[in-house]
Amino acid sequence: MTTSVIVLAAGKGTRMNSALPKVLQPLGGEPLLAHVLSAARALSPAAIHVVVGHGMDAVRRACDGDDLRWVEQAEQLGTGHAVTQALPYLEAGTALVLYGDVPLVPAETLAALCTAASGGVALLVMTAPDPTGYGRILRQDGGAVLGIVEERDATPAQRRIGEVNTGLMAISVAMLRRYLPAIQPSNAQGEYYLTDVIGLAVAEGVPVQTVSVQHAEDALGVNDKAQLAIVERVLQRRRAEALMRGGVTVVDPARLDVRGELICGRDVFIDVNCVFEGRVILGDGVRIGAQSVVRDCELAAGVDVRPFSHLEGSRVGAAARIGPYARLRPGADLAPDTHVGNFVEIKQARVGRGSKINHLSYIGDAEVGCNVNVGAGTITCNYDGVNKHRTVIGDGAFIGSGSQLVAPVTVGEGATVGAGTTLRKDAPPRQLTVGGGRQVTLSHWRRPQSKDRTDG
Ligand code: UD1
Ligand code: CA
Repeated sequence: MTTSVIVLAAGKGTRMNSALPKVLQPLGGEPLLAHVLSAARALSPAAIHVVVGHGMDAVRRACDGDDLRWVEQAEQLGTGHAVTQALPYLEAGTALVLYGDVPLVPAETLAALCTAASGGVALLVMTAPDPTGYGRILRQDGGAVLGIVEERDATPAQRRIGEVNTGLMAISVAMLRRYLPAIQPSNAQGEYYLTDVIGLAVAEGVPVQTVSVQHAEDALGVNDKAQLAIVERVLQRRRAEALMRGGVTVVDPARLDVRGELICGRDVFIDVNCVFEGRVILGDGVRIGAQSVVRDCELAAGVDVRPFSHLEGSRVGAAARIGPYARLRPGADLAPDTHVGNFVEIKQARVGRGSKINHLSYIGDAEVGCNVNVGAGTITCNYDGVNKHRTVIGDGAFIGSGSQLVAPVTVGEGATVGAGTTLRKDAPPRQLTVGGGRQVTLSHWRRPQSKDRTDG
């Protein structure tokens, strides 16, 4: 049986109070709509139609894919009207209607919904502790479904019904073609309700199946920032649980944020309040200290990231030690056994095995050899205001504290640069190069005295 997916994503999301269309609000580092599309793709449907309206250009740009067919709904006249826009493009078979703002429904539940429809119609329902705002499921003495009544159109007795419509349904395309043209906007909102096709099916004696969500959270919808935060925590808890099932020690699953893909080896340890963005790969035994942010990085086995470090677009070799308070920027490529300490920034630089840059340094656009010791406060002066220049430091070199290496410049193998040197020319291998003027002491100099203070 052919299944086509229709994703409703045309709504404005007024309650978001945001310039960003609702379905592009970020959840776990991706737009809400991207989550719905992944679930849809997991079913390998014949087609995915996305009904868009508000901010449609931005939505298309953010979520485009060769497998998507974009359908414009110029005016948002209701969920029934939205599905009608996709009707001309549907193949015979089953249509699965998803909402762009209901992002957590597992693909297995969607598959079960399609199976339950089996050529007819099936609704995804749930029992909500607080059904406010949802359409209520009307049943014949608790048995067969009779229809759905929206909150605003419901009688007080109907409002007390706890079984509600999640909005998602699987329905035969033939039924959509029959019933959609018949629905009328004769309700409190003056909209074309998709839910009215249920009453029409029942009137023709077509049985309506229901599938219940596994967990109430699966069908959470996002209408405002408060609901977005709730759904974010649900998603993050699920991601933390998946990591822990895989053997990762997550010190506090409520204080972990994975906004992308986090791939972990064995015995990875993640302390509290860490954020992972993009694609991050952590090798066996990696430790990530508290309050660290890691984005698009690959850390080899045994890397120890100490607290408050910020790593982006970097590769770190086995058993390296980073931080506390270290910053690795894109293109930092550290060999095994390197040490990068507090208040050190590294950008576009390769650092060889066993080298140490432990305190207060900036190393940018550089090639640092093996077993190099970079003293505290060393700065590569890589930028002349227009161009970036490279600094090359040979194996075994020793850079004294407080040095500035004015690129382009090369420090030879085994060279020593004296503390406080401003290196403007290459330092030859295995020799000591010291810069700066000769040190003088002025014995007659007096410190200026304040006129109204005598205590100096
Ligand atoms: C809908 C259901 C309600 C259900 C609830 C679950 C109807 C009539 N009601 O109500 O039974 O309990 O969802 O959350 O279907 N959309 C469009 N074009 C439109 C209107 C809506 O694309 O013209 C999209 C929205 O962007 C959203 C989805 O459809 O993604 C749901 O629309 P919304 O207006 O939020 O429906 P509810 O009133 O919440
Ligand atoms: Ca809604």
